[in-house]
Amino acid sequence: MSKTFAGLAIAVLVGAMMTPLPVLASEDEEEDAMPEAAIVIPMMNAARGRELFAEKGCVVCHQVNGIGGEDAESFDIEEFSIPVNPFHVAAKMWDHAAAMIPEQQEELGGQIELSGQELADIVGFLASPDLRKGFSEDMVPERIREIIEHEKEESEEEESKEHD
Ligand code: HEC
Repeated sequence: MSKTFAGLAIAVLVGAMMTPLPVLASEDEEEDAMPEAAIVIPMMNAARGRELFAEKGCVVCHQVNGIGGEDAESFDIEEFSIPVNPFHVAAKMWDHAAAMIPEQQEELGGQIELSGQELADIVGFLASPDLRKGFSEDMVPERIREIIEHEKEESEEEESKEHD
């Protein structure tokens, strides 16, 4: 089992299992699909999520507020819209793991490891329009900024080769 999947599974499953959640069903989901749902979504610390997004290196490939690399989907408000569904985020990360993990190994030297709580905090950050709009370069550690710069230089070089 990949570590990414383990992280997702933890976010989805762990937590006390007793509190029924008010569920906002989307239109295409059947009502009563899970009548006795006993799920707990962990408390999400969005400010911590913002730090993790930068420190763990998500920002190397995913832009927020115009800050970050451009290798993958931007998480700017216009593109990654709210409300954010944590299950959707987890499923998308799973779907795209085959593309994401080799890139992480190449650019960050290894796969990003996430606990369930860390993923929850990152989801909290993505779900906060204010924190995303306020995301700025000084929130990105120097080490990560260097990787982003390096990455941009490389893709510019590749582009100029293509135009030769
Ligand atoms: C080294 C590059 C890289 C890093 C670092 C990275 N990703 Fe990705 N991510 C990708 C790629 C590539 C895709 C898939 C793009 C595609 O297949 O079109 C992707 C896709 C995704 C998607 C699906 C987006 C969508 O709407 O389809 C999510 C969500 C996501 N990543 C979250 C994260 C999070 C959270 C982190 C940090 C913990 C992270 N990624 C770190 C490269 C990266």
